[in-house]
Amino acid sequence: MTDSAPTAPAGPADQTHGDQTHGDQTVVFQLNGRVVEVRAPAIRRLSDVLRLELGLTGTKVGCNAGDCGACTVRLDGRQVCACLTPLGRVAGRRVETVEGLSRDEATRRLQRAFHRFGAAQCGVCTPGMLMAAADLLARVPAPDRRQVEDALGGVLCRCTGYRAIVDAVLHAARPEPAFLVTEGGRAVGMRLPKVDGLPKLTGAERYGADAAPADALWLRAVRSPHARARFTVGDLAAVRRRWPGLVAVLSAADIPFNRFGVMPHLKDQPALAEGQVRFRGEAVLALVGDRDTIETLPDEDLPIVWEPREPVEFEAARAGGAADPVHAERPDHVLVGGRVVRGDLDATFAAAAVHADVAVRTSFVEHAYIEPEAGYARRVGDRIEVVACTQSPYMDLEDIAAILKLPREAVRVVPTAVGGGFGGKLDLSLQPLIAVAAWRLGRPVRCVYTRPESMASTTKRHPAAITARACADTDGRLLGYEMTGDFNTGAYASWGPTVANRVPVHATGPYHVASAVRALSRAILTNDPPAGAFRGFGVPQAAIAHEALMDTLAAKLGMDALEFRLRNALRPGQPTATGQVLEASAGLAACLEALRPHWRQARAAADAANATPGPMRRGVGVACMWYGIGNTSLSNPSSMRVGLKPDGRLTLYNGAVDIGQGSNTVMVQICADAVGAPVDRFDLVMGDTDRTADAGKTSASRQTFVSGKAVELAGLDLRGAILRRLNAGGDARLEFGEGIVRAVDAAGARTLILAGLPRDAAGDVLSGTGRFDPPTTALDADGQGIPYATYGFAAQIAEVAVDVELGTVSVLRMVAAHDVGKAVNPQQVEGQIHGGIAQGIGLALMEEYVPGRTENLHDYLIPTCGDVPDIECILIEDAEPLGPYGAKGVGEPALVPTPAAILNAIHHATGARVTHVPATPERVRAALKAQGVIQ
Ligand code: FES
Repeated sequence: MTDSAPTAPAGPADQTHGDQTHGDQTVVFQLNGRVVEVRAPAIRRLSDVLRLELGLTGTKVGCNAGDCGACTVRLDGRQVCACLTPLGRVAGRRVETVEGLSRDEATRRLQRAFHRFGAAQCGVCTPGMLMAAADLLARVPAPDRRQVEDALGGVLCRCTGYRAIVDAVLHAARPEPAFLVTEGGRAVGMRLPKVDGLPKLTGAERYGADAAPADALWLRAVRSPHARARFTVGDLAAVRRRWPGLVAVLSAADIPFNRFGVMPHLKDQPALAEGQVRFRGEAVLALVGDRDTIETLPDEDLPIVWEPREPVEFEAARAGGAADPVHAERPDHVLVGGRVVRGDLDATFAAAAVHADVAVRTSFVEHAYIEPEAGYARRVGDRIEVVACTQSPYMDLEDIAAILKLPREAVRVVPTAVGGGFGGKLDLSLQPLIAVAAWRLGRPVRCVYTRPESMASTTKRHPAAITARACADTDGRLLGYEMTGDFNTGAYASWGPTVANRVPVHATGPYHVASAVRALSRAILTNDPPAGAFRGFGVPQAAIAHEALMDTLAAKLGMDALEFRLRNALRPGQPTATGQVLEASAGLAACLEALRPHWRQARAAADAANATPGPMRRGVGVACMWYGIGNTSLSNPSSMRVGLKPDGRLTLYNGAVDIGQGSNTVMVQICADAVGAPVDRFDLVMGDTDRTADAGKTSASRQTFVSGKAVELAGLDLRGAILRRLNAGGDARLEFGEGIVRAVDAAGARTLILAGLPRDAAGDVLSGTGRFDPPTTALDADGQGIPYATYGFAAQIAEVAVDVELGTVSVLRMVAAHDVGKAVNPQQVEGQIHGGIAQGIGLALMEEYVPGRTENLHDYLIPTCGDVPDIECILIEDAEPLGPYGAKGVGEPALVPTPAAILNAIHHATGARVTHVPATPERVRAALKAQGVIQ
């Protein structure tokens, strides 16, 4: 590549010069205002040229198939997918990437609007979104919402629910209000833009695939095309001879301890399969070499002999009918069961006035984060460093150490920016392979999953088969609840035990069940992909059941569906199904009361619309949820540290990985108020296991509550240290300046000069630490105890339109009321609600992962910009006494009630209950037919 001052490029015919020897051509084009010259094959993807030849990694690659739009750039001003644009096509033309956006004021305003509106969560779609929006704004300076949605329709976002992005584009051309600034002690509760947001808007953020040592080898896993098979591997040396660029081929024999898993007692998954595969997509070999070789070497050229076997299917396994178990040590196919039982269920149902029952089926759901797994590993002396996208650096560290049989001190995990996780990046993926390869070869090794590989090989949401029944008295008081749920946990344990234990606790929904509960669950082993953690750990599936039952009981009693829920809403002082009595912060009733006017107005409008005959029917549904924050009946501590540097700046050493949800910002806000310092005094160290303490994994909606409390304690600890140094009172105001801290109180002002103070290993002159582990107890044999220290509560209303002839469902509007304890950053909370609702719409209406059939973002549909409706958020702040400034969590609660609300709305619209999701047009029509709504 060469780089020179901008000149007007000549026409395409003048700008391509062939090289017959290597197929390379010299292609000249204008890139972000400068003329560049690239020698490469003319058919090379522009995205590869930008990222690998020119080092412009701001253009992201999410699918290499034109489905996700992450690689959107502008070509002569119009948006195109760089992955589908061959280099030869840009000869003599103008290419603009995210790195060039700051060259003109209009696009700088767009970037600032994205920042202000919280339009970038994980940020991996943001470059593509910005380029698509820049294309629109260049043509239509003041677009309307529909024009914005159309323009962004080719770029997928899995985090935001698109609402903030659309708002940012709409406001990009409007006058800008000043940015918010904070004084010390005033950050909690403010809508601060992300403290780490700007690199996401300029292309500077580094995700797993964006950086690696220049001499890194590439690794590709060879994966099973069969759901179940035995296999043998022949002479690999012959393959090496045929492919000189192949440096090594790793098999199971190369892995010191070939087992991993998230459960300490259930390390059942091999990094490379040992003679048999248990799901389609399981890795059997790892090819290491130069990039061209490992990508072009066909699997057919490898000496693998397969003996396919009959796979164990979910239905047969749960019925006990599959003869040959997936794991010999579990002949009944049951990985683990969960149980919550209290009261006399039979007597309760016998005495009740009304009963209802339901059977629910759900499908595999793919996380579909826009960033496929990526990272690199390198050996540094007697240590291994793994730099990759992850939600759980310390869990990764433990497993990598075990796999390599190294002491844990010999492993360093450095999380990159994470382009979405949602639970899918809690489990190891490529880390064992690159770590083993780098350790054995003594060279850096990198790996970037393809989209089909990511979808085939990583965990999914558990498909569920749930039956449930409930009963109530004539006053509408919920008396009894019974649920039996089987969850397809796939070939390996992953988070199956968590789902099996969490679901029975939540089975009844957020209601006080007066007399008796029986909730049983099982995680069933099959030859499907491992099911793991996905936003809710099985609770959204269970919510479909309890919310259908609430509607049915209300209808049988002639009660309004919202008022029935309000009557039974769990309140402080009432026991849950596990016998736990919530002392405070149980805000469901407040959520429902906040929704009541919206509910009445929307139901009346829908009923009025339905007075006109026709195939289009309107419906309004409500659904509630609760969600235990943190691990179920397990210790899940977080430790945090904050330090004061000699220059007067503060550093937060934050091991809680921000996967887009905004925890970096929330942690700084909490810490700032605890110390009494402005947010802009803080620098951030995120996730590096050599530099931060173990804050636990980013899952179970725990970081704001658990790590947030640890950060508050750390901030208070540092504040105390400063005040002691200055002999100042606890209510003193702190002022941070260049190399000084000043305490001001009634006794006057005292100044601490920082330069002469001794520094610790991190270079801090003073520091504070905090640790918090939410108080829980183990559950007894009947599931009685205190599984969580606190719970999030919510209620959502869905308004839908159903075409009863076509079976299609459109979500028209959502109103979401969430009790979050305290909204540390209301903008981030709303962003989580928007994103959770978008994923809930996908679960309810369109998402179904089928191994071998939907392993790409063309066949596997996730909501686009046009699928997510207007969302109104209502934040209820029923303070949690244990939480930082009263905060709880919202990541998973945002999704849990959405599918149930949509299904209840379909029922209101049509009179038919759909219980198999996704509610595709075929399933909706089948339900309408079966229940006599249509012929
Ligand atoms: Fe859009 Fe994460 S912010 S995919």
